[in-house]
Amino acid sequence: MFIGDIPVLIFLSWLLRAGRGQDLHGRFPFPFSQSDVKALNNALEATSDVETKNTQPRLLEGDAGFFDDECGAQTNCGDCTSKKSHFGQPCRWCPLTSGNTCYSYGDQNNPCSSEEQQTEPDQCAPLSEVRKPVVILPGLIGTGLDAKLTDKKDKVNHLCSTSSDDFFQIWISVPQLLPVVYECTMSEWELKYDYETEEVTDNDGVEIRTHGGEANYGASVDAVMGWEQIAHALQAKGYELGVDLFSAPFDFRMGRKQFHDYDYPKLKDLIEEAYVNSGEQKVVLASISYGAPFGQNFLVEFVDDDWKAKYIDSWISMSGVFNGAPMVVRQLITGMPGYGIPWVDTKVLRDSMRNWPALAWLVPGLIEGGDDRVVTYTESHNYTLSEVSKLLADGGALEASDMINKSEGALTDADPGVKVYCWYTNNIPTEFAYAAKDATAEPAIIYGVGDGTGDLHSLNRCDDWEEVEVTHFDGLAHSAFMGNETVTDMLVELVTTA
Ligand SMILES: *[C@@H]1O[C@H](CO)[C@@H](O)[C@H](O)[C@H]1NC(C)=O
Ligand SMILES: *[C@@H]1O[C@H](CO)[C@@H](O)[C@H](O)[C@H]1NC(C)=O
Ligand SMILES: *[C@@H]1O[C@H](CO)[C@@H](O)[C@H](O)[C@H]1NC(C)=O
Repeated sequence: MFIGDIPVLIFLSWLLRAGRGQDLHGRFPFPFSQSDVKALNNALEATSDVETKNTQPRLLEGDAGFFDDECGAQTNCGDCTSKKSHFGQPCRWCPLTSGNTCYSYGDQNNPCSSEEQQTEPDQCAPLSEVRKPVVILPGLIGTGLDAKLTDKKDKVNHLCSTSSDDFFQIWISVPQLLPVVYECTMSEWELKYDYETEEVTDNDGVEIRTHGGEANYGASVDAVMGWEQIAHALQAKGYELGVDLFSAPFDFRMGRKQFHDYDYPKLKDLIEEAYVNSGEQKVVLASISYGAPFGQNFLVEFVDDDWKAKYIDSWISMSGVFNGAPMVVRQLITGMPGYGIPWVDTKVLRDSMRNWPALAWLVPGLIEGGDDRVVTYTESHNYTLSEVSKLLADGGALEASDMINKSEGALTDADPGVKVYCWYTNNIPTEFAYAAKDATAEPAIIYGVGDGTGDLHSLNRCDDWEEVEVTHFDGLAHSAFMGNETVTDMLVELVTTA
């Protein structure tokens, strides 16, 4: 997301801190098996970092097992309210039929809206008569990735495979992120950049696809991560995959050029399909984080006004980083610590992402008529937004610098020309600028406000658009929009209201 943001591992920490109940609750259907969870638990046990241990989720404890939380184990709905799930959230339920099983919010079997569950626990919500088709646009690191290896030469360490019979999931997969093994994953998702053609390719001997490949594109939400609660809440209202609920997973390492070549034609077809399958209803796009530049560029550059008028109802953008995030600059130059995962080497992580067009695209730039503010203060030079590619080159991130120098389509604040619901948080301290001895040095951080990942100057690019309804959130962190019931209910309300 940027579901989880830059750096990648904020997302992981979001997953790993689930037990604290803030950002995540209900049943997050991890793509992890029980043995994966055990393996992670053992690995964490082996770390000496007390702080890390203390923030680990409870889901790793006890014999009850991750999947059998107390809500799930309850059989008497009358008792259910007083119990808490592993995530510290109240059980919520409503039997679809006459069954007497409890379900938690977001469970596919639960057709209730959260409001009704809170007030009238035994009542089922009716299906909604209005169901505008929804197409999900995920964020950075918000799509699963699979790798297939064929005689991979630059084997990073003795635990890395060199060949695989088929695709296997590398993101997000706990076994693939364990100590030492994670280096294999980082090498697998690295890209090679060709300065001549500006093309990127997978590392030698590696083929990457979005999780499940084409089978999970469109009439599936299996490759997009973090959207489970929203998807289930919509299904509870009568939404069906392939009829009025779709997702558009994309390889989040990529940027504008690759989107135009590969993803946008697919997205255009998908939106047309959603329109047809839902009985010629206009489509609502729902995005998080990096899904914002992904969606905005599509609407501004790839489709015309007639097409938008015919196919698009509106766009719900959550935590949209329309002008990237300053912390991307830090990630590219010195790297950011691997939050939540003590064994991840900052430089290994940084190097693995340095050739991602996504990061180059998410470096904040000078927007026409905007303030050419300083991004990094150094002893010899203060680098402003318009000099950010020089900053990157001086800081050693040459490929990203080159991509920015050559790209014709930097992020803009161009109006996408559709009705937009722009939801973001504007009051959390957020990295805004840096001060360092020189461009390569570990910087001190100067904070501004935003959502903890994207700064306000990026999030608020939508404010002046023609048809926009801006909603500010109070203290809701960037990726916490996913899995927040208030947000889910707002979204469901919008798409089920004529
Ligand atoms: C950078 O900006 C600061 C604050 O405006 C200023 O004091 C300093 O002299 C500038 N440094 C350079 C090298 O221009
Ligand atoms: C990109 O342009 C800047 C400013 O002109 C320059 O300093 C930098 O070296 C260039 N980057 C590369 C990789 O050539
Ligand atoms: C969800 O978001 C709302 C609105 O910002 C906030 O009041 C609430 O505390 C959030 N819920 C959780 C569990 O964080």
